[in-house]
Amino acid sequence: MGKSLFTKKTIRDVELTGKTVLLRADYNVPVAQGKITDDYRIQQSLPTIEYLLEQKVRLVICSHLGRPTGPGDAAASLKPVAQRLSSLLGKEVVFIPDCVGPVAENAVKNLKPGQIALLENLRYHPEEEKNDAGFAKQLASHADIFVQDGFGVVHRAHASTEGVTKYLPSVAGLLLEKEVDTITRVMNNPKRPLAAIIGGAKIADKIDILHRFIEIADFVAIGGAMANTFLKAQGVDVAASLYDKDELGVAKDIIAKGKREADRRKFTFYIPQDGVVASKIDPRAATRIVDWSAHVIADIENYPKRPPAEASRIGDHEMILDIGPFTGAFIAGALQQVETVVWNGAMGVTEVQGIQGPVGPFAHGTDLVMEAMLGQFGGGKYRPFSVVGGGDTVGYIEGRKLVGAFNHVSTGGGASLELMAGRKLPGVEALVDKSRLPQERVVQYTA
Ligand code: 3PG
Repeated sequence: MGKSLFTKKTIRDVELTGKTVLLRADYNVPVAQGKITDDYRIQQSLPTIEYLLEQKVRLVICSHLGRPTGPGDAAASLKPVAQRLSSLLGKEVVFIPDCVGPVAENAVKNLKPGQIALLENLRYHPEEEKNDAGFAKQLASHADIFVQDGFGVVHRAHASTEGVTKYLPSVAGLLLEKEVDTITRVMNNPKRPLAAIIGGAKIADKIDILHRFIEIADFVAIGGAMANTFLKAQGVDVAASLYDKDELGVAKDIIAKGKREADRRKFTFYIPQDGVVASKIDPRAATRIVDWSAHVIADIENYPKRPPAEASRIGDHEMILDIGPFTGAFIAGALQQVETVVWNGAMGVTEVQGIQGPVGPFAHGTDLVMEAMLGQFGGGKYRPFSVVGGGDTVGYIEGRKLVGAFNHVSTGGGASLELMAGRKLPGVEALVDKSRLPQERVVQYTA
């Protein structure tokens, strides 16, 4: 892999023995009826925690969960996370019911070296998201050093990501280092050809990465509900399908940019040519395949004079809910010719489970693309380096128990998109540069 592209100091660069460490994790995990339904982010935080415990630190972990309105919002409590963390570590995790104030201060003071505490949801205090200096200082007062390991939240300039670094020496944890290094490497210096498969519901979240991938990748394919907006922008009648009316202009610009790039160099910008349609989003819905490619490619002049056949027309009440077999085969084939693939967003409505198992009627396109990425397509002889951007995509592959099969599955949703788009992440920028020497000066960096 070569030298790390991460330019900030990490926990391996500083002396930690005997110190109290404030660790920012991203434990914003899905919780339903008090139960965690996906603990990927918690699992990914374990190497940093284990390393810190080996240094005999007193470990104080903080995080947010959801977007609570205040402390009364019990559904956003981090208590279930403390329990899950404790069972994953096989060790007691003291749960502290507030993150600042006397309760938190006393509980932190009573910690012994090698002990772990998890503070209650930072966002129970509105000062967190306002990046309030007084609140950041209170958080900082718990510890001697701050470790940022919540990759999923470093695109936010909040008290626990940016403010706190003004009052404590601040370094990165191992997860943050791995995420930034891997994603930066793939964006700046990928093994080529590079493919990007971008899906999901909304264009708005992905405009910047689409622009960036059109500039740097060799193959870009669109899927998911987002593709419907591109189809509509190209004149396809998408009937009852979900699409972004406000983003049609953006979609047209992106298509035009893709075409310009394809004229200039060997590059493919691919929008689905067929899809799975149904009149309802239901595992028992009647489905059929519609191939609309003829409308886009030719015959526009004769349309609607010559009505399209059933197989090339989406019925008035039908919605496009997955990519079709032509599209799936085309993308899967293309993935056999690349060295690196970045995937963000499902190709269809994967959240609809099947009647007899996890794979519903609108998940086949996503599964086909996944198989192609993982080398199962074509006998498993070929496998590109695969990076999966976070968010809902991760939830799906977790459910399929395939997380370990990809080279890198990001814990960040918005953060991975911003990093891929080439933006600076405030929670990373605020950490001490690796080049800053001597180490003692770093440790004395206080308010
Ligand atoms: C995420 O899940 O993307 C992060 O935890 C950030 O959460 P936020 O979008 O509520 O700031």
